[in-house]
Amino acid sequence: MTPTDPGPREPRGIRYGGDYNPEQWPEQVWAEDVALMSEAGVDLVTVGVFAWAELQAAPGAELRAGWLDRVMELLAAAGIGVDLATATASPPPWLVRAHPEILPVTANGVSLSLGGRQHYCPSSPAYRDAAVELAGRMAGRYGGHPALELWHVGNEYGCHVPACYCEVSAAAFRRWLRERYGDDIDELNRAWGTAFWSQRYRDFDEVGPPRVAPTFPNPTQQLDFARFSDHELRACYLAEREVLRAATPEVPVTTNLMGLFRPTDGWAWAAEMDVVSLDRYPDPADSDSHVQAALVADLNRSLGSGRPWYLMEQAPGAVNWRPVNVPKNRGQFRAWSLQAVARGADAVLQFQWRASAAGAEKFHSGMVPHAGIDTRQWREVVALGAELAKLAPLAGTPVSAHVAILLDWESWWALELDSHPAGLRLPELLAELYQPLFDAGTTVDFAHPEADLGRYQLVVAPALYLVSDRAATNLTDYVGAGGTALVTYFSGIVDPDDHVRLGGYPAPWRDLLGLDVEEVSPLPPTTTVRLGGPLAHPGSAGRRWQELIRLRGAQVLLEIADGPLAGQPAATAHPHGRGSAYYLATTPDPVTLSALIAEIAARAGVPAGPSRPPGVEAVERGGHLVLINHSDTTVDTGVGDDPRSDLLSGSVVSHAVTLPPGGALVLAPPDRP
Ligand code: GLA
Repeated sequence: MTPTDPGPREPRGIRYGGDYNPEQWPEQVWAEDVALMSEAGVDLVTVGVFAWAELQAAPGAELRAGWLDRVMELLAAAGIGVDLATATASPPPWLVRAHPEILPVTANGVSLSLGGRQHYCPSSPAYRDAAVELAGRMAGRYGGHPALELWHVGNEYGCHVPACYCEVSAAAFRRWLRERYGDDIDELNRAWGTAFWSQRYRDFDEVGPPRVAPTFPNPTQQLDFARFSDHELRACYLAEREVLRAATPEVPVTTNLMGLFRPTDGWAWAAEMDVVSLDRYPDPADSDSHVQAALVADLNRSLGSGRPWYLMEQAPGAVNWRPVNVPKNRGQFRAWSLQAVARGADAVLQFQWRASAAGAEKFHSGMVPHAGIDTRQWREVVALGAELAKLAPLAGTPVSAHVAILLDWESWWALELDSHPAGLRLPELLAELYQPLFDAGTTVDFAHPEADLGRYQLVVAPALYLVSDRAATNLTDYVGAGGTALVTYFSGIVDPDDHVRLGGYPAPWRDLLGLDVEEVSPLPPTTTVRLGGPLAHPGSAGRRWQELIRLRGAQVLLEIADGPLAGQPAATAHPHGRGSAYYLATTPDPVTLSALIAEIAARAGVPAGPSRPPGVEAVERGGHLVLINHSDTTVDTGVGDDPRSDLLSGSVVSHAVTLPPGGALVLAPPDRP
């Protein structure tokens, strides 16, 4: 057992519940809360996330925890487990008064005030000491409590303040740089390319964070600051986690990640968590949100190396923070919850239990809405609880994937720096490539580019701009050993110092791909080019990007058919060792992209997903086939010839089934009808 591994835990079915903030309510409400929780099948609640100011009144003071003791007792008596927060996400006013230097400062020098939340500089010793002290007190008081199941450290690290540019941070950044560059300023100068624009530093004391400057700050300075800022946030988490570990080594620890959230490196964070948790808020107004929701579910599962994960937060209805907040009123609460379970979640938790009456989130939905329990929302909450209880056989079971998408936060940080050929946004590129795989019913993992890729039939590298030597060799070796890779434009461009790998792009993979990219040629947003070639159809078009390419053995699958680069390759195939490497030099229209990916997946031996009408999601978990109709129409979908029992309805189905909008089936393995 490693120190971060409290050992395997028995799955207790699919857990259900949400953030519970009893401190916002008079005590008379608590008994009703617990009774309603039992009615809805709630068995896990997150308590105390923003309760610091209620729990402590002065630096180092004893906990004013009578109220929390009573809440914990009520929950324990009802058999409801607690994901207990260390309560350190929002420092109380007294801490800011005693240590105004904890307030974070933006890149343009603005000090952020008390009055919202997360108003702390992650490098501030005063903040960290106070947070660790509080975590220690929480562990001391509740470490042995029968309701305690999980520690919840902080909350959504980096959400509002991903980086701080204050003097304390500047000093911490310098210390971090000294360590990274072996206390050798010339090493920093080399890495940052400071011969450019007269930036040579003579001493580490001259260096600062990339504050707002007359024009683009040094890109490697920005990249290092992204690394540093992520490290500092994680150091806050780790400092609290160590205190909890020491006091309660048997209690697992988590903090809530946010899926495709650029500031925090999901791989590095998940490696430090016993349960990898996800907060997921797709927009119900967007008809494709379920695809984005599936993507982040697959990502979260992958971050934990396939271990079951917790959906730590989702809205039961509307959020309050978009310009227009549409509720989940078309069965999306149920459908997206089932989707999370299908994609590996062992818990479906919401923000929050009871919709607040005061404060900035009073128009955020809750499981108990403002209107009370004679409501659509409450009926959906109770119905979902009953359904999740039927899905216990899925708890703890794995989801397996044949395809991996490579994702590296370092590369993402570097890709989205300024002064590039075009402003590529990684989440958009990932979504474009994920969509056809989702439509095909092909489950996808995400993988770090240096991870072992051997179990995948197909590996996709979307705009993997920054690659280490190790990652470059890893992909080449994977293909050499029989794998199939699809590399897209603007991959393999720079090394970890953000220095261009010279001699033609993508320098580390030119032999693998059988081509050299001489020049990139981004397309203005409204411009498209026609595509021809063996995999084109009459309307095929490319957008966003094209390139001047010298083929060195690759075969053309798509080519640019008009404009100044007419005749240039747009998609290619190249054998390498026992495998194949494909390259994509543009973003084809969705139909062409789907056809290309289907062709590559078929050649790679990726098994075809079950055939279904559009809008019906299909995922397998632990031998169970989950089908969810996300479309607005009733559809007939095939379910295979063998009779299979549907865990949700209890009926046995075979061949074809009619699914209404929002309808879902969870089919037991065929041998267990
Ligand atoms: C985040 C936070 C919660 C709450 C929700 C609202 O996920 O963690 O405290 O603010 O957003 O959607």
